[in-house]
Amino acid sequence: MRAASVSDYRELARRRLPKIFFEYIDGGSYAEETLRRNVSDLQAIALRQRVLRDMTNLDMSVQTLGQTLAMPVGLSPVGMAGMYARRGEVQASRAATAAGVPFCLSTVGVCSVEEVAQGSVAPWFQLYMLKDRGYMAELLGRAKAAGCPVLVFTVDLPVPGARYRDVRSGFTGSSGLSGALNQAWDGITHPAWMWDVWANGRPHSLGSVAGALTQRSRRVTDFLAWIARNFDRSVTWADLDWVREHWDGPIVIKGLLDVADAREAARCGAQGLVVSNHGGRQLDGVRSSISALPRIADAVGGDLEIYMDGGIRSGLDVLKALSLGAKACFVGRAWAWALGAGGEKAVAQMLAILRSELAVAMVLTGCTTVGAAGRDLLDLD
Ligand SMILES: Cc1cc2nc3c(=O)[nH]c(=O)nc-3n(C[C@H](O)[C@H](O)[C@H](O)COP(=O)(O)O)c2cc1C
Repeated sequence: MRAASVSDYRELARRRLPKIFFEYIDGGSYAEETLRRNVSDLQAIALRQRVLRDMTNLDMSVQTLGQTLAMPVGLSPVGMAGMYARRGEVQASRAATAAGVPFCLSTVGVCSVEEVAQGSVAPWFQLYMLKDRGYMAELLGRAKAAGCPVLVFTVDLPVPGARYRDVRSGFTGSSGLSGALNQAWDGITHPAWMWDVWANGRPHSLGSVAGALTQRSRRVTDFLAWIARNFDRSVTWADLDWVREHWDGPIVIKGLLDVADAREAARCGAQGLVVSNHGGRQLDGVRSSISALPRIADAVGGDLEIYMDGGIRSGLDVLKALSLGAKACFVGRAWAWALGAGGEKAVAQMLAILRSELAVAMVLTGCTTVGAAGRDLLDLD
């Protein structure tokens, strides 16, 4: 099948990846209400069609945090991408760089921050706050030394949400001998993945946090257990001062849905925030990112850069989010599916699809410059 849309990459990833990884990417928490809302609330927004305007020249570029993005899209941090394709974070970063958009590397990426910086360009770096502050300080120093221009501090995961699909698939929790056999069968029945990732994509560790662990426990599953034990739920806004002491570049707070929290982020001097519910993977039942966006943009849009992620599946969705106040959108599953479907090439094609869909949406709404997108592009009646 030739992919024509983001959802086609989902189907291709479903075929190529072992079930445990496909379900890990695809799933949300609990009953997945918020995951569904992220998508359906975007779908429910109507664009306002306008005609007979000169739409010869479109400007999709945005200036943000000292960078020029070729279009208002970035790749959200996604953990363990190196398990979806060989050295997956490097491949995705290359595709993003070629498209002129930022790639944000997860704390729990398979490739380390140094590997991504050397194999591509220095990524934006996403931080989860772990209890070991000494290690956190060292990690921030490494990200800085690697040349990462922006720190994305994720604040909506002091504890992981319950992800039923991961328990059922055996991705988390102990699944005993039958689970191990199931996983082996899962791998064997996906030979393209076995060859690409299992045989040729090693080491399968979490590169940036590998140093905090002993040699004996370097398997991905051990890292996950270590991380679950080490997430720090005592973190407060005051800890932003600690982050600031160890990071002198721009800081973006990721995982805000509430206006009061957005005001706090602005007060603490963050340069940006991502309106996000972690792709519906944390507190199920919270509102969709797109429905939280306008009120946050209205409250603090003049103080810091507003980004959003959650449910973006097309260039039309991108324009809707811009119209409601986002400077740029990030995509999570869209690139993870593409990576799982066909590595760097597929991520590049997926980004090209988003770009051409955004162009069509701009032409048919009469929007020549993404920076000027506003609520007048929407049919809000
Ligand atoms: C498989 C997967 C892994 C993720 N890992 C991380 C992570 O390590 N750090 C983080 O801040 N967000 C993580 N997220 C959340 C994404 O950054 C992003 O908020 C979310 O995917 C956006 O929703 P979307 O997938 O509908 O685009 C992950 C999401 C997925 C789907």
